[in-house]
Amino acid sequence: MKLVIIGGTGLIGSKVVTKLREHGHDAVPASPDTGVNTLTGDGLAEVLQGASVVVDVSNSPSFEEKAVMDFFTTATRNLLKAAAAAGVKHYVALSVVGTERIPDSAYLRAKNTQETLIRNGGIPYSIVHATQFFEFVTRIADEATVGTTVRVPPALIQPMAADDVAKAVASVAVGTPLNGMVEVAGPQQFRFDELIRQGLSARNDPREVVVDPHARYFGAELEERALVPAEGARLGEIRFQEWLGQPVLQRR
Ligand SMILES: NC(=O)c1ccc[n+]([C@@H]2O[C@H](COP(=O)([O-])OP(=O)(O)OC[C@H]3O[C@@H](n4cnc5c(N)ncnc54)[C@H](OP(=O)(O)O)[C@@H]3O)[C@@H](O)[C@H]2O)c1
Repeated sequence: MKLVIIGGTGLIGSKVVTKLREHGHDAVPASPDTGVNTLTGDGLAEVLQGASVVVDVSNSPSFEEKAVMDFFTTATRNLLKAAAAAGVKHYVALSVVGTERIPDSAYLRAKNTQETLIRNGGIPYSIVHATQFFEFVTRIADEATVGTTVRVPPALIQPMAADDVAKAVASVAVGTPLNGMVEVAGPQQFRFDELIRQGLSARNDPREVVVDPHARYFGAELEERALVPAEGARLGEIRFQEWLGQPVLQRR
């Protein structure tokens, strides 16, 4: 079975390609690096020829409000059109747990728009909602830092390893279209401050982490459970401390 992985050179995409190939599938990575650009449409018709499944795990190079909305809107429209023309039978996309609950966030608004386009796109589809990646914890801390203090909201978070995200995406991609959404998350729930403190301390990062009811998460106020999945989410296996303990280059 041929599956085209849009964003197949990225963090999740490259792992999805590897996992699908390990199971004998013809997984083709597609991104500007390989001559395929969903914003301009370059290379799309060619790469999708003969594909049964398209998996979109691309990301916007910029998280700025207008840029990110333009990226997910234009790229998704182009990809849906090209996938329909190529006779693709299953359209899979990776999005974020809580996307529909956090309209204050420009990034999540753009992801929500991407999802609406897919639902109305006319191709059988599956949307995978994942929680924050372990690999993203430092970026969250940087975004929340003022001076030497990291200010985080009194919220819960249930992050997961990129390897577990990729496993879930690959498994959904070879399954029957859900025509709906499935949630995937890490095996443990943390208080936001506790997670960031553990992540920073593993890197000997001296920043202080404080809980601040007014702290925003990428510009958005968070309800306590806004980032955590509902009951019944598929859970990954890799625990944060286990992942932190691996040498950086060997982190799965
Ligand atoms: N970070 C989190 O915690 C989190 C949580 C849940 C869900 N997600 C979702 O996970 C997805 C993947 O994230 P990631 O961290 O794996 O991304 P990433 O490592 O930044 O990779 C992004 C990929 O998108 C490709 N890309 C960029 N512009 C493109 C274009 N115009 N046409 C085609 N491909 C393009 C890049 O290609 P080049 O390498 O060629 O530039 C790269 O392969 C995102 O959609 C994100 O919303 C993230």
